[in-house]
Amino acid sequence: MNKGIAIYPGSFDPPTNGHLDLIQRGSKMFEELVVAVLRNSEKSPMFSLAERLEMLRQITSDLSNVRIDTFDGLMVEYAKSIDAMCVLRGIRAISDYEYELQMALMNRKLEPSLETVFMMPAVKYSYVSSRLVREVAQAGGPVSELVPEAVEQKVREKLDPAYKLRETNVIEVPKRRKKKA
Ligand code: PNS
Repeated sequence: MNKGIAIYPGSFDPPTNGHLDLIQRGSKMFEELVVAVLRNSEKSPMFSLAERLEMLRQITSDLSNVRIDTFDGLMVEYAKSIDAMCVLRGIRAISDYEYELQMALMNRKLEPSLETVFMMPAVKYSYVSSRLVREVAQAGGPVSELVPEAVEQKVREKLDPAYKLRETNVIEVPKRRKKKA
C-alpha cells in the first residue's frame, strides 16, 4: 500500500460498475482514497449532487479507507487542501487516453507536485460509461449489469417515480393493460 491520500475526481452521474471497480482497486493502493464529486459541473446532470453522494456512499460503505466528498473550482487546489499526493483516473480504452493525458498534463502544469495515476477497470467494464448508462436507461433499456444494485434502484426511481412507492408497498400501482388490437 502506498502511504498517503489519493483523490478520484469525477462527475459520477451516475456511478457505474467501472467507477466502483476503480475505487476498489484504488482503495487497495492508497492509505485513503477520496472520491471527489465536482459540484459546479456545467452539464445538466441526471442526478443531483446529493443523490450522487448518497449513491457513492452506499456502494462504498464496505471500504473503510474511502471517503466521499465534493469540490468546486480547480481540482488541484482541492487536492492540495486535503494533502492528496495523487490523482486517480481510469482509462478504459485508447479513446480515453487523449483527453486524460491532456488533463493530467494541465494538472501537472498547475501543480507539479501532484501526480496522476491511471488505472484500468476490469475489461468487462471497458465499454461502460455514465453517459451510456443514462442513454440506455432513458430509452427503457436494462442497466443492471452496468451499475451497482443501489444505483440501478435509484435510476429506476428517477425514471419511474411510481417505482419506489410500488416497491415499498405505499401504493398499489396497477400494471398497464395491453391495448386490445
Ligand atoms: O467524470 P468526468 O466528467 O470525466 O470528470 C472530469 C473532472 C471532474 C475530473 C474534471 O473536469 C475536473 O477536474 N474539473 C475541475 C476543474 C479543473 O480542475 N479543471 C482543470 C483540469 S484540466
